[in-house]
Amino acid sequence: MALELPALPYDYEALQPYMSKETLEFHHDKHHQAYVTNGNKLLEGTGLEDKSLEEIVQTAYKEKMAGLFNNASQHWNHVQFWQMMKKDGGGAIPGELEKKIIEDLGSVADFQAAFIEAGVTQFGSGWCWLAMGSDGKLKVTKTPNGESPMAYGETALLGCDVWEHSYYIDYRNRRPDYVKAFIENMVNWEYVAELFAKAS
Ligand SMILES: [Fe+2]
Repeated sequence: MALELPALPYDYEALQPYMSKETLEFHHDKHHQAYVTNGNKLLEGTGLEDKSLEEIVQTAYKEKMAGLFNNASQHWNHVQFWQMMKKDGGGAIPGELEKKIIEDLGSVADFQAAFIEAGVTQFGSGWCWLAMGSDGKLKVTKTPNGESPMAYGETALLGCDVWEHSYYIDYRNRRPDYVKAFIENMVNWEYVAELFAKAS
């Protein structure tokens, strides 16, 4: 099945003042669209056309099909990213997930600090994540370029895009301020809790 750009699950103004309409217009309409367009071109003739997006990403990663992997994986990452944010996001973490974060990562404050640190120290383009490893434990990780915990066969629960295209219009070079605003004010914790419930 061909890759398709989904509409944003909210208005272009919904994440202001933390993420502007202009950022979402460029990021969703131009950057994400480019991954979809290029991914579809690279998918042609691979024999993977009928596979699910997750299978395409994991196979392309294993088989070192770099072009297809970069575009299909960035497509998956962004489909998740849009849903991981919402208007008036942030705030309290749903109970079961909060309990698990405290159990595996020490405290909510420790988790937030580790998440920000991962985003800030990802050298160059990439992502920082809250993920569930194959041992069932939560962890904070970072990945380069288009990689993700899902590509490695783990469960991605929350991801923050730290490519410059994600924050340069609103924050210029201040990536730490962007990742802090993301974790404190943009996260759709109900969606993250749904992913956690499915994985548990
Ligand atoms: Fe992006």
